[in-house]
Amino acid sequence: MCSDRLIIFDTTLRDGEQSPGASMTRDEKVRIAKALERMRVDVIEAGFPIASTGDFEAVQAVARAVKDATVCGLARAVDRDIDRAGEALQPAASARIHTFLATSPIHMKMKLRMTPDQVLEQAVKAVTRARKYTDNVEFSPEDAGRSELDFLCRVLEAVIAAGATTVNIPDTVGYNLPHQFGQLIQNLIERVPNADKAVFSVHCHNDLGLAVANSLSAVLNGARQVECTINGLGERAGNASLEEVVMSVRTRKDVFSCDTGLDTTQIMTCSRLVAGITGFAVQPNKAIVGANAFAHESGIHQDGVLKSRETYEIMRAQDVGWTANRIVLGKHSGRNALRTRLEELGISFESEEALNEAFSRFKDLADKKHDIYDEDLQALVTEANLDAGNEQFKLVSLRVCSETGETPEAAITLNINGEERSASAPGSGPVDAAFKAIEAIVDSGTELQLYSVNNITSGTDAQGEVTVRLERGGHIVNGQGADTDIVIASARAYVNALNKIIRPADREHPQRGDV
Ligand code: KIV
Ligand code: ZN
Repeated sequence: MCSDRLIIFDTTLRDGEQSPGASMTRDEKVRIAKALERMRVDVIEAGFPIASTGDFEAVQAVARAVKDATVCGLARAVDRDIDRAGEALQPAASARIHTFLATSPIHMKMKLRMTPDQVLEQAVKAVTRARKYTDNVEFSPEDAGRSELDFLCRVLEAVIAAGATTVNIPDTVGYNLPHQFGQLIQNLIERVPNADKAVFSVHCHNDLGLAVANSLSAVLNGARQVECTINGLGERAGNASLEEVVMSVRTRKDVFSCDTGLDTTQIMTCSRLVAGITGFAVQPNKAIVGANAFAHESGIHQDGVLKSRETYEIMRAQDVGWTANRIVLGKHSGRNALRTRLEELGISFESEEALNEAFSRFKDLADKKHDIYDEDLQALVTEANLDAGNEQFKLVSLRVCSETGETPEAAITLNINGEERSASAPGSGPVDAAFKAIEAIVDSGTELQLYSVNNITSGTDAQGEVTVRLERGGHIVNGQGADTDIVIASARAYVNALNKIIRPADREHPQRGDV
């Protein structure tokens, strides 16, 4: 029986964004935050405000946009980080500061060069300072999974006494095994004298593929907050996947004495949105959100499922937001029909200009493609929102010639700050030629790190969704583009990436270097 609430703390916008190549713009973060809010996530960690002006503004924008979830900002245990987080979170209806300091022998000695007593003192100072901004303060002893139990207990007791309302136990390097991590949580709850004054949380990394298992083991041993990300995005092998944690707890109510308040039907929308924005595609056999998660290919399975769904299915696809591809709109649908369907999907526009842009793209698409599905609309909105800002580069036209036995050639026209410029270039294929033609104009000095194409729906008239990842001087961005013509989609994605890479991006990483 479910007696307790399990708090879901989503860190897609912070830890998720720390995975190389997954960086998000302020507007992209706001869109994801709104989708998380709609899914009724309890806490949204929006970023690390001290990292850069862009990060600060993104946390501030999320704090302004979100009303029904707590918005959290990360801060190392130093005054300037905490003050910056407090400032960024000022507009939030409900704000949390999450401050952290490493407690494992190896981190204290090699990274921080601090003694355990100094660490304890600094942790308490940080929590005390954070409490000046909000009474909702979380403290994480970084690398708790490799820390000494007695010291961990001392630190937790001290930070709770200083006002931490949540204490989060990270397995920062994904080293723990489920039985061990569960035992750690049980020991901490039993041994920290004021444990009842704070919520115990966990934050597990997936280096051994155990992040979800460790999180669930912690929940069985008393943790009441899980930190997780959509699609398991995050540093290195990622974090615990939100959808797997939430659906495990819900599906195995017989085992867990708690449940989340999530509207799980929003899971697929969030998953697609995050995959589209970051360019981190979801593997087909990924639990819950992979394309094959509810597909019953084998004859025996299909037979069983047709006779009784429960023979092979432990969850219903519609409960996590899988809908049979639904034709939602067509050529004759008007602007209001588009707006209404998008609202039903939880999509709103940052400006009237963006809606107009989406409508015009919708009309273009409807001319080329007879049936328009929800997935098409989602891709179209991503594009419309992307293009509605003050983009420096815009794709005006593209012509490609591709013929058996001939070298493909592309001719492109870009609008750069209002001025049209054209170039043509040969390439090993039409996409290569298009990218070379763009570079003949822009000469960006970037390196292409990833190029991927996914079909949004099935059929040869489906739109292709392209992700282009560019790198320059260590700064990595993802660009997206969608079109029924994948060469045009590719050029759009490339131009979108260029628009992102020209924005300044010097940012600090929260977990590297000294505090
Ligand atoms: O993995 C980790 O330890 C973190 C902390 C900042 C909570 O991300
Ligand atoms: Zn982490």
